[in-house]
Amino acid sequence: MGKINFSGRVAIVTGAGGGLGRTYALELAKRGAKVLVNDFGGSRDGSGGGSSMADAVVEQIKAAGGEAVANYDGVHLREGGENIVRQAVSAFGKVDIVINNAGILRDKSFTKMDESLWDPVLAVHLKGAYNVTQPAFVNMRENGYGRIVVTASGTGLFGNFGQTNYGAAKLGLVGLMNSLRIEGEKYNIKVNALAPVAGTRMTEDIMPPEVFQKLNPEFVTPVVLYLCSETCTDSGRILCAGAGLVQTAFILVNDGAFLGGEPSTPEAVAEHWAKITEQSNLKKLNNVMDQSMEIMKHYS
Ligand code: NAI
Repeated sequence: MGKINFSGRVAIVTGAGGGLGRTYALELAKRGAKVLVNDFGGSRDGSGGGSSMADAVVEQIKAAGGEAVANYDGVHLREGGENIVRQAVSAFGKVDIVINNAGILRDKSFTKMDESLWDPVLAVHLKGAYNVTQPAFVNMRENGYGRIVVTASGTGLFGNFGQTNYGAAKLGLVGLMNSLRIEGEKYNIKVNALAPVAGTRMTEDIMPPEVFQKLNPEFVTPVVLYLCSETCTDSGRILCAGAGLVQTAFILVNDGAFLGGEPSTPEAVAEHWAKITEQSNLKKLNNVMDQSMEIMKHYS
C-alpha cells in the first residue's frame, strides 16, 4: 500500500494546542495537509483562554515547512464553530477533514453534579462538535468529500465514577455519528468515532506515573490519521486506541425473547429475563429501520 498522504487536503483540528490534538495537527501537516489549528487555550476545566497554545503549534508546523493557521475560538459557541470553518475556507478554500477533539473535564459525583459542571462539559464536547461540524458538512457536501472524527471516550462507552456529564456528552457524540454517517453516505463523507487512551494533562492526575509515561499520545495519532484519509472508506466505526492497541467497540443486539403478539406482563419479562439479556447471537443493526425489521420478523 502507498503512503497515506494529505496533500491538497484541508483539515480542522479542534483543541489542537496540546495533548492529542497537537499530535494530529503536526502529523497531518507533515503529510501535506493545510491545517487550521484551533485552541481556546483555557485550563483543563475550560476556564481562562488565550492564543499561545494554538500559536505554538502553528509555529512548529511552519518551522517544519508545513502550512497552518491558528484559531482561538471556543467550539462551545455557535459563532465559534462558524468562525473556525469560515477561517479555514478563507485561508485554504475548503474543508476536507474535521477532527472534533477539544475537550474539558468537570468531574463530580452525581448528587453534586450541578449545572455549572454539567452544562459547560456538554457545551464543549457535544454542542461543540455540532457547532463546528455542521458548517463544515455544508462545505464537504458541496465538494463531495469529507472525513469527520468525533472523540468519544471509554467513559461514554463503558462508564466511570464521577463523570456522568462527560460520559453523557461522549456517548452523545456516538449518537451524532450514527445519524450523520447516514446523511453523509452519498457525498463520500465518512464519520467515525475514537475513544483514545493517552497520557495528557486531562489524565495526568488520574493515572499512576509509570502508566502515564507509557501512554504517549503519538500511539493514537496514526489511528486518527487513517480515519481522516481517503484510504478509509468505513463509516460509523468506534475505534478504541492507546499504547499500541487498536480495537473496535460495537453496539449490538441479541435475539432477545418474543413475548407474544399481545401486550404481556412484567412477570413475563421476569420469566424471560435470562433470554432477554443473553450475550449470544449478537448482531449489528445498520439503522433504526433494521430495529423495526427485527420486530417484524416475528410477525411474518
Ligand atoms: P487536553 O486537555 O490536552 O486537550 C484538550 C484541548 O482542548 C486543550 O488544548 C484545550 O485548551 C482545548 N479546549 C478546551 N475547551 C475548548 C473550547 N471550548 N474550544 C476549543 N478548544 C478547547 O486533553 P486530551 O487528553 O488531549 O483530550 C483530547 C480529547 O480526547 C478530548 O475530547 C478528551 O475528552 C478525549 N479523551 C482523552 C482521553 C485521554 O486518555 N487523554 C480519554 C478519552 C477521551
